[in-house]
Amino acid sequence: MTNKDRVLSGIQPTHESFHLGNYLGAVKQWVELQDSHDAFYCVVDLHALTTSPDPAKLRKQTLSSVAQLIALGLDPERCTLFIQSHVPAHNQLAWVMECLTGFGEASRMTQFKDKSAKSGTDRTVVGLFTYPMLMAADILLYQASQVPVGEDQRQHIELTRDLAQRFNATYKETFTIPSGYILKAGAKIYDLQDPTAKMSKSAESPSGIIDLMDAPEVNIKKIKSAVTDTERDVSFDEKKKPGISNLLTIYSALTNKSIKESEADFSGKGYGDFKGAVAEVVVEFFRPIRAKALELLDDPTHLNKILTLGAEKAEEVANKTLKDTYDAMGIIPRA
Ligand code: TYM
Repeated sequence: MTNKDRVLSGIQPTHESFHLGNYLGAVKQWVELQDSHDAFYCVVDLHALTTSPDPAKLRKQTLSSVAQLIALGLDPERCTLFIQSHVPAHNQLAWVMECLTGFGEASRMTQFKDKSAKSGTDRTVVGLFTYPMLMAADILLYQASQVPVGEDQRQHIELTRDLAQRFNATYKETFTIPSGYILKAGAKIYDLQDPTAKMSKSAESPSGIIDLMDAPEVNIKKIKSAVTDTERDVSFDEKKKPGISNLLTIYSALTNKSIKESEADFSGKGYGDFKGAVAEVVVEFFRPIRAKALELLDDPTHLNKILTLGAEKAEEVANKTLKDTYDAMGIIPRA
C-alpha cells in the first residue's frame, strides 16, 4: 500500500485494436500517472457486453487490449492492471449505484441517448442504460481521486461524483469524490474523414480511424486521404480548419511539441508535405508498439499471470470498499 493518490481508468475491449483517440485521450495519461499515483487500470469486459460481442472475439479482444496497454507503456510492476470481471465487487457495487440513481438522471446521459436514438428503444439493452452506474462503481471502489479519460466521458464522471456525494450524505463518508483528469490537448481526437465527429470505434466507416494494430501502409494511406480544406497554410483553427487542426493536435501530441512549434515546422509548406510528416510520426510511433503487442500475445500464459496478480491487488482494495459500503447501508455480513 502507498500514500499516493489513486487514479483509476478503464477501456472497453470492443475491437481488436485501440485507436489513436484512445491513446491520446486516455492511455498516454495512464502511462504518465503510473509513478506519481497509485494507479489502477482495467479492461472493462462487462461494459463491452452491452455491444453483444461474439464470444470468441471478446476473448481475443480482451487479451489483445491487455497486450496493447502493456506495449503502450503500462508496467504491471508500477500499476495494477486487471480485467473488470475478475473482481466481482464491480457488479456488486454497481447494484448499489443503480439504487441511488434516478431514472430521469440516467435518461439524461448523452451517450445513452445517442446510442438508443440510433437503434430504437426495443433494440437498446437495459445494460446500456445502467452502464454509467457500473462505471461509477469501477471508480468508487478504488477511492480514486482522479480519472484520466477523454472528453466524451465527462458526463459519466459528473454522475459518479453526484452518486458519491449522495451516498456520503445519506449514509456515511465512504467514497472519495473523484475528478476527471481530462487534458485539453488530445481529449478529443476527430475522425479523419469527418473532422467534426470524434474518432470512434463505432464509426460507420473505418477510413477515418487510425488503429494502432493496423499495418503502417494502411495508416499512411488514411492520413494522406484525411479531409482538410481549400486553404494552404498549416495553422490551428478548429472552427475554420477542423481537419488541419486535428492533424496538428495529433502531430503535436506525438512529438511533444506545442501547437505553435508544430505550426512553425510547416510554415511555407503545403498540405501534402504536412500530411506526409504526420503519417510518418504516427506510423513510427506505433511501429514498435504494435510489434511488442504481437510479441506479448504470443505468450498468453505470461499475460494471464499478470492479470491474476492484478486481480488480486485490485480485489483487496475493492472488497474493503464494498464491505464499508454494505456496512454503511445496513446490509449484515454473513455470520
Ligand atoms: P472507451 O473504451 O470508449 O474509450 C477509452 C478511453 O478513450 C477515450 N477516447 C477518446 N479520447 C479522445 N478522442 C477520442 N476520439 C476518443 N475516443 C475515446 C475515452 O474518453 C476513454 O477515456 N466508459 C468508458 C470505459 C470505462 C471507464 C470506467 C473509464 C468503464 N469504466 C471507469 C474510466 C473509469 C469507455 O467507454 O471508454
